[in-house]
Amino acid sequence: MLKLTAANLRNLPAETLAVPVCEEAPIHPRGPVASLVRRALGYEEFTGKSGNELHLYDPPRCHVRRVIVLGIGPKDKVDAEALRSFAGKAVKTAIEWRLESLCLEAPSPQKLGLDIRALLKALMEGACLANHIYDRFKSDPKKKPLQTIYFRTSPGAAEAFSTLPETVQTVCEAACLAREWVSDPSNEKTPALLAAAVKKRAESAGLRVEVQEEETLKKNKMGALLAVAAGSENPPAMVLLDYAPKNPEKTVALVGKGITFDTGGYNLKPSNSLDGMKADMAGAAAVAGTLLAAARLKPKIRVVGALPMVENMVSGAATRPGDIISAYTGKTVEIGNTDAEGRLVLADAMAYVIDRYRPDMVLDMATLTGACLVALGEKIAGVFSRDDRLAEIVIAAGDETHERCWRLPLPDDYKELLESKFADIRNIGSSRWGGAIAAALFLSEFVGETPWVHIDIAGPAYTKKGGDYCGPGGTGFGVRLLWEVLDRLRS
Ligand code: BES
Ligand code: ZN
Ligand code: ZN
Repeated sequence: MLKLTAANLRNLPAETLAVPVCEEAPIHPRGPVASLVRRALGYEEFTGKSGNELHLYDPPRCHVRRVIVLGIGPKDKVDAEALRSFAGKAVKTAIEWRLESLCLEAPSPQKLGLDIRALLKALMEGACLANHIYDRFKSDPKKKPLQTIYFRTSPGAAEAFSTLPETVQTVCEAACLAREWVSDPSNEKTPALLAAAVKKRAESAGLRVEVQEEETLKKNKMGALLAVAAGSENPPAMVLLDYAPKNPEKTVALVGKGITFDTGGYNLKPSNSLDGMKADMAGAAAVAGTLLAAARLKPKIRVVGALPMVENMVSGAATRPGDIISAYTGKTVEIGNTDAEGRLVLADAMAYVIDRYRPDMVLDMATLTGACLVALGEKIAGVFSRDDRLAEIVIAAGDETHERCWRLPLPDDYKELLESKFADIRNIGSSRWGGAIAAALFLSEFVGETPWVHIDIAGPAYTKKGGDYCGPGGTGFGVRLLWEVLDRLRS
């Protein structure tokens, strides 16, 4: 649990205090913490350089047992992300030490030139996200999350931002749930199992939930989605989540790619590329997480989530390259490559959601292309939209949450790459190049006139190594981002 406190060091509710320190310039107001920092900087091995860590025990004239002093680098380079990292590292150390609680010292916003709310929010995010441990399949879990994390700030700030801990915790817990779904192995998250897991959470959060099974999907003529599902023993499902407040200002539809495993189908992936394909439902996980956060934080806009869940496998019944199928919109699609399956399930899910809910805009999130990974690397998502305002909102939201997004173009003249000799469109481009753009252009053919943004998260959805506030596995990328987008759409 996250808690703001203005307690002085004599009656701190935790035994351990973590203090961020900059190289050279002080970032704490004069007082006992500033003295602790001076003491730390008296040791040659501690300079305040980013990543520098020093532990002090029972410091004099202080009633804390332990102090974790952490360097965060030069003052003029400190931003919200540096504070998230600081909080994450401190929490990880405290978990390592098997502590139950920890207090993080908030630096002075004036000294850092940062907004106080943004500063506290960043500390809380880093701490809350780092406090998540994925050990569902360990017989003998070694680590336990902290029970309480305090943030020490001025009495005025503690009062003014008293509701912030709960808001941050709600969104970060949703992100952690998304992480778990992404990290879960595919044998434990078939479309039916994943749909049931999402349904359970969504119902207890008070969302309207509908799970469409194969029969319904057939009845609704979701031909593109069903073509991907054809090769799997595990039938597909589509989960619809609806957060519907009274008199909403607008309706936003979120659609997430939910491929529970992507073998590539008959265009089978090589061994190396199969690794990590359990994470091919990270878009769906992020959308589900965002809806759960919305259900709890109650924005004034209606948010609909659509999660097409399908396993892309090979069998005697699987779709072949060259097959022609009919999508939900009636468009015929020539399957140029069975590994370009994400765009097929999204095309049907988006068109269905637009038909049914008439949203003011659609955002889709998907681990869609290896090409996006090649273009932007493992930490940055690709953003595609014809709507400049929407694209800018997404990019600004990503700057705020440090789920970085970079806009890529949707050039009309590239559409010819998707031409098919036999059907209305082909699901892959005729050129080796520009794969992320070709995929986005394919999607654009199924959204009609509805304002739309596509976010390709093939890079940042999953991490083998982990980071300062994230363990190895699913990153939860997209939940804080989409929540921030919804927040910006309100005003
Ligand atoms: N799920 C993959 C994209 C992906 C690749 C996600 C690596 C995360 C990491 C997607 O379904 C896919 O296989 N795309 C193909 C498309 C190609 C066949 C046109 C790709 O990117 O190679
Ligand atoms: Zn694929
Ligand atoms: Zn895929």
